[in-house]
Amino acid sequence: MNENPYSTAVLAWYEANARDLPWRRPEATPWEILISEIMLQQTPVVRVLPAWEAWVERWPRPADLAAEPAGEAVRMWNRLGYPRRALNLHACARAIVERHDGRVPDSHSDLLALPGVGPYTAAAVASFAFGQRHAILDTNVRRVLARAETGIEYPPKTQTKAEVRLAESLLPDAPAVAARWGVAVMELGALVCTARSPKCADCPILDRCSWVLAGRPPHD
Ligand code: ADE
Repeated sequence: MNENPYSTAVLAWYEANARDLPWRRPEATPWEILISEIMLQQTPVVRVLPAWEAWVERWPRPADLAAEPAGEAVRMWNRLGYPRRALNLHACARAIVERHDGRVPDSHSDLLALPGVGPYTAAAVASFAFGQRHAILDTNVRRVLARAETGIEYPPKTQTKAEVRLAESLLPDAPAVAARWGVAVMELGALVCTARSPKCADCPILDRCSWVLAGRPPHD
């Protein structure tokens, strides 16, 4: 669909309220976006910011990282946690040089074949770096959709096919709009529709939220 019942309100909210994060700027390269998504998989934005800046300055292209030993990637990972991700990014850099001529591939299936890149990260990079139309389902998005569409406070522990179908059904038609929608819902979940004490008064879709309309029933 070109629009879903929320898209206009959510996109307008995003324009006015989104954080200015460097990997969201128009000049961010696919490689910089891939690094950000791997770092953000398990680490909060505030801790990712300085590490991301250091990485992209030191290794501005995949070939720069691929030329170094993996230990350098782990050292630069610092205290982001789950350091296997540093090894994965290093292996990504080498695979990108070997298989893709040093450029981050733009197809979802090529992205998915990279080390440490799962369905979410492949969709996020294809969408945010290449403006493609993919459903984005991270924990924040899953929570927003659980509340707004399903009327429950929290999504199921593990992602279901129904959630994927729901996210796909809400995806705007135009790829560029879909990409913006994806990051906008993610931001809504991060800033307003938070796991605890959601700021419903600030929510652009308060009047259509199934969970709010149901009286905000607690999770059982
Ligand atoms: N912006 C783009 N991707 C993001 C992510 N994974 N987490 C937070 N903000 C983002």
